[in-house]
Amino acid sequence: MAKINWKPGTMIYPLPAVMVSCGESPEEYNIITIAWTGTINSNPPMCSISVRPSRHSYPIIKRTGEFVINLTTENLARVTDWCGCRSGKKYNKWEKTGLTPQQSKKVNAPGITESPVNIECKVKEIIDLGSHHMFLAEVVHVTVDDTYIDEEGAFRLARSYPLVYNHGHYFGLGKKIGKFGWSVEKKKK
Ligand SMILES: Cc1cc2nc3c(=O)[nH]c(=O)nc-3n(C[C@H](O)[C@H](O)[C@H](O)COP(=O)(O)O)c2cc1C
Repeated sequence: MAKINWKPGTMIYPLPAVMVSCGESPEEYNIITIAWTGTINSNPPMCSISVRPSRHSYPIIKRTGEFVINLTTENLARVTDWCGCRSGKKYNKWEKTGLTPQQSKKVNAPGITESPVNIECKVKEIIDLGSHHMFLAEVVHVTVDDTYIDEEGAFRLARSYPLVYNHGHYFGLGKKIGKFGWSVEKKKK
């Protein structure tokens, strides 16, 4: 085995590919697919999305200071890709994909009904990093599809078959390996 030297690049994979919805009024509502997203703080709950200023969604999110991160699934893979290859400058992505806007609780930006988890965000800070500007945002509300609540009331996100983005390709999750803390758990006698 030998290691090959590569130029520095964005190589943290796999990642979620999420659909971010934005806009204040139905005429403005848009969806952008984002892979440069992440959790950045637990309390208060905060996350980030990095967006190129050339995107149609960019000035909308900047002006309104709001967006909704919608998690994606294997069933949503095709529309996730489509929303990441076509711009709201030319297309009404809701009409083209058949996705349905839903009223959010704490922001004017709509969520996507077909998504299992809708994370409502309010922008706290915008950082110009170069190609992308990073929106740091506080999570102000979350809605989850009750289809994935089990008999004991636990949320089973894996049952939605989350979509994974891995170096330019989409995948499903694969098999479960363990759970948080299992490596240090004491064996039951
Ligand atoms: C899987 C995937 C991930 C993407 N991630 C990002 C991203 O993190 N930031 C970004 O600015 N654009 C990203 N894009 C590109 C935008 O989604 C794409 O340019 C889209 O057409 C912009 O939509 P809009 O012009 O309607 O805002 C991604 C596209 C795909 C397919």
